[in-house]
Amino acid sequence: MSRLDGAQSTISMWHEGDYSTHTQGAKDAIDNARDLACEAIAAMDVGGSGKPFHIADYGAADGGTSMDLHRATIAALRGRVPSRTVCITYTDLPRNDYSALFATANGGRPDVTSYRDEHDDIFVYAAATSFFQPIFPPETIDFGFSATAMHWLSSLPCPVSDHIHMAGAHGEELETLRARARADWQDILLARASELKPGGRLMTVNLALADDGRHMGNTGGTNMFDVMNRLWHALVDDGTITAAEYRRTTIPQFYRTPAEFHAPLLDTDGPIRRAGLRLVRAETRFTRCPYAARFAEDGDANRFAATYVPNTRTWSETVFVNALDAERPPAQRRAIVDRYFGSFAELVRFDPEPHAMDYIHECMVMEKAGPGDG
Ligand SMILES: C[S@@+](CC[C@H](N)C(=O)[O-])C[C@H]1O[C@@H](n2cnc3c(N)ncnc32)[C@H](O)[C@@H]1O
Repeated sequence: MSRLDGAQSTISMWHEGDYSTHTQGAKDAIDNARDLACEAIAAMDVGGSGKPFHIADYGAADGGTSMDLHRATIAALRGRVPSRTVCITYTDLPRNDYSALFATANGGRPDVTSYRDEHDDIFVYAAATSFFQPIFPPETIDFGFSATAMHWLSSLPCPVSDHIHMAGAHGEELETLRARARADWQDILLARASELKPGGRLMTVNLALADDGRHMGNTGGTNMFDVMNRLWHALVDDGTITAAEYRRTTIPQFYRTPAEFHAPLLDTDGPIRRAGLRLVRAETRFTRCPYAARFAEDGDANRFAATYVPNTRTWSETVFVNALDAERPPAQRRAIVDRYFGSFAELVRFDPEPHAMDYIHECMVMEKAGPGDG
């Protein structure tokens, strides 16, 4: 299988473990939130009366980036109840590479050490149901977790006609996307509220638009999405792709503000609170782009371009491939996208300083009200 076997779908990470191999920053962001997960476990009643402790990882991709967080969560749990059995279910879209996921979880990858090497009685499962729908029966999950996944929209209500991302959207298009993101977040929370056991917790580490206007790829230097948009549009200018193909290219994501994330949980009469979900803690966190950080140390522009650009490509490539005319032969579509990312790498090699994919996440811990909670 090639990295592009998910290319018939717009949302698809690189396969065969290549997603987590090339996205060190996503792992760093999760690791940066380990304290919140351990704090959440410490605050829960984890006795369990001999029943398994159920963990869900929503939008897990190949599972490599969250391995150490789950290791820490399991250690925190076992520190309190050493014998408690753990079931962990990874969820993602149907075309995710579940073979790579199980290889990762079962210790079959040389670059990732599984928690199963350290802990017994861990049962690993997967579910290929979208997180906009219920995935588990009511009141079955103890601890839900999701990172860098829920900014993907359920569908694209409109293209961003003069940009490739909502970061460059404005006016009516931006508001249409915002409305979809609001409805999607409510659907996500309602489904999770049902799945959580009373007293269970949900922790999300979601890409966000911070109050100071920063977001992933836009934290000081050039705006990564503006660069990607400019280079894609240059292919219209030189006749490689058509204006219609350019207009079709919109990464179906939305970066919500902290206020947008919190709103449904603060609305005391709203459906999320009625479903029993409460906000326990929220914090906007910054994670440095590891590739830019390394460049700052070693000044190696070639290595920077060869690591930073594939990092952007792991999650966006299929959007570009699928925006191209279906009548183009697959090899031609791939060649165009190769050329596009090649031009991106060339730009970074030539002028590396302003580039970085730093992450901005809104980290939230929520709790499902227990019996007797008002
Ligand atoms: C950027 S990856 C993040 C993977 C991992 N959680 C991390 O933080 O590194 C986003 C993942 O979310 C998944 N995803 C997007 N929309 C989804 C949906 N509606 N339901 C489940 N997974 C979804 C994608 O398939 C992808 O695997």
